[in-house]
Amino acid sequence: MTMQEKINELLELREKARMAGGEKRIEKQHAQGKYTARERILKFLDEGSFEEFDMFSTHRCHNFGMEKDTPLTDGVITGYGTVDGRLVFVYSQDFTVSGGSLSETVANKICKVLDQAMKMGAPVIGFNDSGGARIQEGVNSLAGYAEIFQRNILASGVVPQISAIFGPCAGGAVYSPALTDFIMMTKNTSYMFVTGPKVVKTVTGETVTVEDLGGASVHSTKSGVASFAVENEDDGIAMIRQLLSFLPSNNMETAPRYSCEDPINRLDDVLNQLIPENPNKPYDVKTVISSIVDNGEFLEVQPNYAKNIVVGFARFNGMSVGIVANQPNWLAGVLDINASRKGARFVRFCDAFNIPLVTLVDVPGFLPGTGQEYGGIILHGAKLLYAYGEATVPKVTVILRKDYGGAYCVMSSKHLRGDINYAWPTAEIAVMGGKGAVEILYSKDVKNIEDPAKKADYLNEKEAEYTQAFANPYVAAKYGYIDDVIEPRNTRFRVIRALESLRTKRLENPAKKHDNLPL
Ligand code: HXC
Repeated sequence: MTMQEKINELLELREKARMAGGEKRIEKQHAQGKYTARERILKFLDEGSFEEFDMFSTHRCHNFGMEKDTPLTDGVITGYGTVDGRLVFVYSQDFTVSGGSLSETVANKICKVLDQAMKMGAPVIGFNDSGGARIQEGVNSLAGYAEIFQRNILASGVVPQISAIFGPCAGGAVYSPALTDFIMMTKNTSYMFVTGPKVVKTVTGETVTVEDLGGASVHSTKSGVASFAVENEDDGIAMIRQLLSFLPSNNMETAPRYSCEDPINRLDDVLNQLIPENPNKPYDVKTVISSIVDNGEFLEVQPNYAKNIVVGFARFNGMSVGIVANQPNWLAGVLDINASRKGARFVRFCDAFNIPLVTLVDVPGFLPGTGQEYGGIILHGAKLLYAYGEATVPKVTVILRKDYGGAYCVMSSKHLRGDINYAWPTAEIAVMGGKGAVEILYSKDVKNIEDPAKKADYLNEKEAEYTQAFANPYVAAKYGYIDDVIEPRNTRFRVIRALESLRTKRLENPAKKHDNLPL
């Protein structure tokens, strides 16, 4: 062959690889409102930045006549490129080749991406759209999954790992995304479950649709598996790019700092009026968040799961931070099992990747009741406590209103190495609310009062006394448990000052093999 013929052969092979699944299957993919694996990568990465690995790989299976059909790329497109000029590694399962199922070859390709990402210290983004283990390859496919899991585990806390679920993800295959930091699902076109509706019917007798069992709506509201649910793939791709802008490339770096046009000393008078006079009245903590962060921009994680705690990314003076805030608008902002798990996972992610934490507190305590106790609120609540206590990143806390009981300790208190702890004048820091406190403290006294009206008057008077004495920030301030009481409208400026002062923070936990977080 001449040089030119050899080059032509290469170009032909490349073209063949690009159309691996064939025109018909690509059309079917589009008809379902889905992009192909390659389209996803090209839309996601900076234009012209994609470098592909293993275009010429094929499966090596000889079972069930598979040797007669050996499409190039074999079910996954892999490689690297850039997002906003920063290196990222990608893999994208190709449903048009054997339903994106995982062969030994597919697994090797994904493992190569994970290995390279670890060497280079760059995030890995996986687009999942697969029928699961390649049935014809049997145990080789299972082995491939396990090899991926092992790499996901070793990469955890070293490079950010993001899973986009843009199609099926079933069986043990779900455990690779589950080991990554964020899971995004498209509404109506993706699903995740350990066993599908047919097996569910056989084992439990339940009749359930794919969507009701493992659709985006389920995992973004009920199970908490999905960090984000998006309307379509375009929105999802844009959101992953946005998410990456808040993250460092690896655990040895800090997140990129952006220039900030939003004045750092911007006052917001709305905040001075926000807290209702009646302590039982709710308000939306997201008003505080959007008021104080740069340009009001907040990327909320798990917005529809455990809404009593709000978590997500924002910037202060161009610096990326993780925000954790109790939400008085939902279950009064109480900490329950789901809120504790959600908060803990987010805090641990931020700590692993050097992202400072800003915590906004308005919490009446932990949710009482048998449902919570039987479900293990003790252990789950301890996760959040543990996460805050082990975190060594800068921690700035602002107590907006209630901060009662164990929740006071948990929510980034001074005692869990909170670096700078502020309170608004509306803060109420105590063991419990006034009503509960007087019922315990004065139960003996009221036993002797027979007239119910007099009894109520007595308790009201005692409650007023208690509130006067404890429902304020000054007792905690007296002991140095908060550093200052600040005017609400000044919060943005004070938080930015605090974060700037903490940029050189150095704090290390004792050396250990690993911790024993209560699971
Ligand atoms: C090999 C597969 C496959 C698989 C799909 N295909 N899944 N090939 N192994 N697991 C092939 C089909 O034969 C078909 O090939 C093409 O992919 C498209 O599949 P369709 O069924 O036509 O597509 P659709 O109707 O959209 O249905 C998609 C599907 C269905 C719901 C995902 O294909 C399906 O149920 N697949 C099996 C899912 C499954 O049970 N997987 C094993 C899970 S257990 P042609 O040539 O016709 O295009 C598991 C264990 C992992 O994964 C353990 C890890 C530890």
